[in-house]
Amino acid sequence: MNIENIKKEFPIFSNKVQNNDLVYLDSANSSQKPQIVIDRIYDFYTKEFSNVGRSVHYLAVAATNFYENTRKSVQKYINAEFADEIVFTKGATEAINLVANTFGQKFLNEGDDVLLTELEHHSNYVPWHFLRKTKKININFAEINDFGEITIESIKKAITNKTKIIALTHLSNVTGAILPIKEIISLAHSKNIPVLIDGCQGAPHLNLDMQDIDCDFYAISCHKMYGPTGLGVLYAKKKWLEVLPPYQGGGGMINEVNKEGITYGELPNKYEAGTMATAQVIAFNESIKFLENIGIKNIEKHENEVIKYGEEILRKNNSVKLIGNPKSRGGVLSFNIDGIHPHDIATILDEDGVAIRAGHHCCQILHKKLNLTASARASVGVYNIKEDFEKLNESINKCKKIFDI
Ligand SMILES: Cc1ncc(COP(=O)(O)O)c(C=O)c1O
Repeated sequence: MNIENIKKEFPIFSNKVQNNDLVYLDSANSSQKPQIVIDRIYDFYTKEFSNVGRSVHYLAVAATNFYENTRKSVQKYINAEFADEIVFTKGATEAINLVANTFGQKFLNEGDDVLLTELEHHSNYVPWHFLRKTKKININFAEINDFGEITIESIKKAITNKTKIIALTHLSNVTGAILPIKEIISLAHSKNIPVLIDGCQGAPHLNLDMQDIDCDFYAISCHKMYGPTGLGVLYAKKKWLEVLPPYQGGGGMINEVNKEGITYGELPNKYEAGTMATAQVIAFNESIKFLENIGIKNIEKHENEVIKYGEEILRKNNSVKLIGNPKSRGGVLSFNIDGIHPHDIATILDEDGVAIRAGHHCCQILHKKLNLTASARASVGVYNIKEDFEKLNESINKCKKIFDI
């Protein structure tokens, strides 16, 4: 894999940021975009634009075909059984809201339990919290261990005979832990409990096979997969989409409308109300091609090497405290330095062109558990190299000097 050539596909890296070469270590937040994705959006709007699934003129039919081709590419990429199991949403957040809302309406009743974990992003907590109010359900949290991991044992401990669904992350956006989701799903299914995976951090970095892991729902964030913003994917087993109610009402999702009542459209239209993020969906096909051309297994291997190197460097830097020490780590390293607020770290690093994220990363439950209010986080994408962590470390040392640590 020639990372230098891959990096050249991303125009952002040929520009200086505050007179520095950009060291982008914020891909868990959102990834940069390759030229082919940017070009596809431009070309669609300049030469091919039309709304999809409505008119019969040439441009409308072509746009509909492009749109449906992305659905087929996603199906193939994640090895879903049917293209109808791919629903486009405005983000992973909406994908999870769709499941919480519709599953909640149909299957949750007062006193039922929903099982989450302490690692969850707010996107996989707040939608379930709404059901605490409307349906009077309980939310239980599987606890992390000392390494910042969720193990099968902690799930076993937290399941009750009232657990109706388990919703958990594939890869923690704070500790970097990769969860044993296949084992968890198998355990859950042995008790007839469906599982939703928040795949925001998993999908850009790990090989996905929906039929192999056998999950019921998998939420994807396209802007973290070298794709456009404003787009997510919900994978859901057909058997669920067929029985769950629609999420939003509007044009495109109906079959027959009468004053007395309405019948809904076939899958996946039933879940795609209104004009969708057409250009984004069409351009996302290029992101998938980009990932396929390099090969997700090559990406995973490369990112593993980079993050391991980053971890080694940061562990040697005294006063840097890493959060979590998972046996199986994805491309995320969160840390703190006693005496320096993470926002100050991020601001000083930024002066050197090193872009990281600071804050609670939408994981207040986890930060509170660890007695932290915030942390600094470096995360990688396919374009990162080991030298990026050397630059990060140099800037951290500069930071320590400024704060006399
Ligand atoms: C673990 C996790 N879940 C959910 C989300 C929300 O994804 P989206 O921006 O696509 O709504 C994020 C994004 O930061 C995330 O990291």
